[in-house]
Amino acid sequence: MAGLIPQHFIDDLISRTDIIDLIDGRVKLKKAGKSYVACCPFHGEKSPSFHVSQDKQFYHCFGCGASGNVISFLMEYDRLDFPDAIEELAGLYNLDVPREDSGVDKKSPQQYSIDKQKKLDYYELMTQVETYFRQQLKQNKNGAEVISYLKNRGLSGEIAQRFGIGYAPDEWQAVKDKFGQGFEREKQLLDTGVLIKNEDSNRIYDRFRNRVMFPIRDRRGRVIGFGGRVLDDSVPKYLNSPETPIFHKGSELYGFFEAKQANRDLNRLLVVEGYMDVVALAQNGISWAVASLGTATTSEQIQLMFRNTSEIICCYDGDRAGREAAWRTLNNSLPLLQDGRQIKFMFLPDGEDPDSMVRQLGETDFIALVDQATPLSKFLFDNLLSQVEMDSEDGRSKLAKLALPLVNTIADGVFQQMIKEKLAKYLGVEADSLDRFISQEKPSQVKQQRKRSQRGSIVRQAIGLTIQYPALVKAIANIPQLDKIKIKGTDLLQKLIDQVRQQPEISSAQLLERWRGTNEYPALLKMTVWQHDIEKDNLEQQFIDTIIQIINKHLELRLEQLAHKSRVDTLTSEERQEYAQLIQNER
Ligand code: UTP
Ligand code: MN
Repeated sequence: MAGLIPQHFIDDLISRTDIIDLIDGRVKLKKAGKSYVACCPFHGEKSPSFHVSQDKQFYHCFGCGASGNVISFLMEYDRLDFPDAIEELAGLYNLDVPREDSGVDKKSPQQYSIDKQKKLDYYELMTQVETYFRQQLKQNKNGAEVISYLKNRGLSGEIAQRFGIGYAPDEWQAVKDKFGQGFEREKQLLDTGVLIKNEDSNRIYDRFRNRVMFPIRDRRGRVIGFGGRVLDDSVPKYLNSPETPIFHKGSELYGFFEAKQANRDLNRLLVVEGYMDVVALAQNGISWAVASLGTATTSEQIQLMFRNTSEIICCYDGDRAGREAAWRTLNNSLPLLQDGRQIKFMFLPDGEDPDSMVRQLGETDFIALVDQATPLSKFLFDNLLSQVEMDSEDGRSKLAKLALPLVNTIADGVFQQMIKEKLAKYLGVEADSLDRFISQEKPSQVKQQRKRSQRGSIVRQAIGLTIQYPALVKAIANIPQLDKIKIKGTDLLQKLIDQVRQQPEISSAQLLERWRGTNEYPALLKMTVWQHDIEKDNLEQQFIDTIIQIINKHLELRLEQLAHKSRVDTLTSEERQEYAQLIQNER
C-alpha cells in the first residue's frame, strides 16, 4: 500500500510553485491592484470576483466562496484527488513523490492515501470486469450472436475494440462468481455498481445480464462505469451504472477519452445523446462526438469540454423533448461563454438520431449538417420570440423580462454585447439603455458577504491573523498556553501557534495544508481569505492586542466564576489565591 506523502515534500512543492503562474496557465488572470482577478472558473459570472493573491499564495472567489492554495486549485480545477494533485505539481519539477511508511497508529490529516488506495482498487476492479466482458464476446456461447448484432449495426471489430465494447453473460452470477470472492471484493463490486443487492431477499447478483456492454471511461481513460444494452426489444433498453465513488454522471462524458485519443487537437466536439450515436459516428469517421449520459448537458460537462476545445455543437432530436433538453443545456452554458468560445445547436428530423443519420448520409454530408448548426444566439432568440407576441407593447416587455436574466448571466465581453444589441433591436431601444434593466444585485451581495466575514469573535480574529501571517507568532513569545483557556477556538489557536513555533518560516499556504482533510479545514480556509482592514504596519500590534484581549476575557470569566463559587460554595486554597490575584489585577 502506498504510504503517506511526507509533509516536508508537500511544503516544498507549495513554496516552489507560484499560484499566479499555475492558475494563469489555466484561467487567464488580470492584475488588479495587489491581487490578480478573473471570472471565477468554479461558477458562472460576468464580472470577475475570483481573486488570487501572490503574497498569500491563495485564491478566493467572493461570488461562490471557492478558495484555497495551489493544491486546492488543482484538486478543484483539474478534478484530481489529493495524491494526484501532488503528483501533478511534482511533475512540473520532474520530482518523484516520496512515500513514508504509514504506521497504523500514526494520525495525520493525510487520510487521503487510504481513500486513494480504495479508489485504486475500484479502478483496478473495473478494468478487470471490462476485460472480462470483452473476453465474453469471444468466449461466451452467445458471443457470436452479439458480434452479429454489432455487425448489423454497422460496427467493425476495430471500432468495437476502440470503445472496449463487450458482453455481459446471460447469468445471474457470472461476475459475482468470478470477481466477488470474499467479503471485501463483494463489497467493492457493490460499491461500484457492478453487483446489485435485492433489499428484500438480500440476494446479491450481477447488475448487467445478457447485455452489450459499453465501458464508460473518465478523461484519463480509467473505466468508471458501464452502460449495457439489451439485444432485443425488451426493457429497459439501457441499464447504466449508478452514481458510485468513482462515477458521477453529471461530470463525465461518454467517449471523451476516446475522442481525445483519436484527435491531437479537438477543433470541436459534438454532443449527442446515446452510446450508439458516439460509436456509430466514430465508425463513420467522426471521432469527435461525446454523449452526455443524460438529456441536458451539465455545466461541469461544458467546462470539461471547453478546456479542450473552443466549439461545442449539441445535437438533439427535433421533437419537443429534444428542444427542451437543448434549452436546459443553453441555460447551463450561458455563464460559461466567453469570447472565442462557441456553442451551437443542431436538431435532427423526427425519428432520427445521429446513428441513423450518419449511416444514411455518410461522413461528408453529416458534417455538412453539423456545419449548419444553429448558433446559440439564434436558438436563444428563436425560443424567446416564440413565447411572446412582438407586435404588442406587453409582448416586448415580456421579452425583456425573459431575456435579461439570461443575458445577465453571460460574461462581459464581445458576445454579451452582441446579444444585448440584438435584444435592444427587438425591443426598439438603444443597447446602452438595457443596462438599467440589468439588476445590480450581485455587487451588493458581495459587499454583504464581505461585511459578514469582517466580523467574528476575537479568537477568530487571532486564528485568522495566525494563518494569514504565521510570522506574527514571533511577537507573542512569552504568552501562556492558550489551550487551557476555555473559550471557543483557543485550543485550535494554540495548535496553530505550536505548528508555527515548530517551523517558524512556514508560509500561510503551507500552514493551511497541514489541516487538509480535518474537521477544522473548512473554517480555517475561510479564515485564510478573511478580509481584515488592518494596515500592514499595524498587523503585529493588532495581533498582540487580540491575544491580550483573549487572555483578559479569560481572566474576566475566571474572576466571575470564582466570585460565583465563593458565594455559593467554598474556594480551595489555590482558588482563593487565584481569586485574590485576579482581584488585584482588576484594580
Ligand atoms: P435512445 O432511446 O435514443 O437510444 O436513448 P439510442 O441511443 O438511440 O440507442 P439505440 O440506437 O436504440 O441502441 C438515448 C440514450 O438515453 C439513455 C442511454 O444513454 C441512451 O444511449 N437511455 C435510454 C437509458 O439510459 N436507458 C434507456 O432505457 C434508454
Ligand atoms: Mn439509436
